[in-house]
Amino acid sequence: MTAAASPEDQRTPADVFGRERELERLGAAIVPGGSALILGPKGMGKSALLSAARRLAFQGGFATGLAAVTDRNEVTLVRLLESLGVPAAAHRGTRTLVRALFRWCGTHRCAVFLDDADRGNTGWLHTLRRLALETSASTFVAARTGPADAPDRLRRALLSGTEVRLGPLSHSAARSLARSAGVPAELVDEVVRRSAGVPVAIVEMAKRHRCTRYRIGGRIAWDLLLADLRLSNRL
Ligand SMILES: Nc1ncnc2c1ncn2[C@@H]1O[C@H](COP(=O)(O)OP(=O)(O)OP(=O)(O)O)[C@@H](O)[C@H]1O
Ligand SMILES: [Mg+2]
Repeated sequence: MTAAASPEDQRTPADVFGRERELERLGAAIVPGGSALILGPKGMGKSALLSAARRLAFQGGFATGLAAVTDRNEVTLVRLLESLGVPAAAHRGTRTLVRALFRWCGTHRCAVFLDDADRGNTGWLHTLRRLALETSASTFVAARTGPADAPDRLRRALLSGTEVRLGPLSHSAARSLARSAGVPAELVDEVVRRSAGVPVAIVEMAKRHRCTRYRIGGRIAWDLLLADLRLSNRL
């Protein structure tokens, strides 16, 4: 379960490298009634960018809530309400939870951030669309794209004005991420090259390069390491 960012997390500027233009566009959508859709393949940094946008909204005085969408609407709603600071335990059942969410968003200047929206079912997307139409909440949604995904479904649901599509990081942003993830200076270029700018590849290689099982004859077996990342479904 994705933990909601605490107010502390929202204040702390986490380093998000190389997404300045995207953040600027998202920042412009942090207005009452604004909405944005972040799209990108697995591990490209959607959640990181969504959290960064949430911090911007928090700093802009919005009440913010962030939740990862699940295929169970009740679970998603409880996560979102709790993240907004609304005690969800008092509410039972999807309809009651939806009512609580709408009431809250109708009476606060709030921004909601939904991650993994590609997992949302039609009922959830309908709720999100109504939320955007019936309250002045700004809605930010991140969704994974891939051969089986249909971003059109989300576009229709969201009335989104702003769409941000994420691709690989620039060389210099990838280097910054590799360094901040703890890749030793002499390995940064290798990690950046092998990652093809995909953030999750950099972060995972940073974690794993220390493991002895990837070392053969004192050298890191990058192909083995990457194959392992793919097998464990991280890439
Ligand atoms: N621009 C960035 N700067 C710094 N770190 C980043 C950046 N983008 C992603 N990361 C880090 O890379 C890792 C993968 O990113 P993230 O989880 O945001 O990808 P994602 O697109 O949400 O993946 P998924 O499709 O699996 O949900 C995380 O550890 C994240 O903090
Ligand atoms: Mg994610």
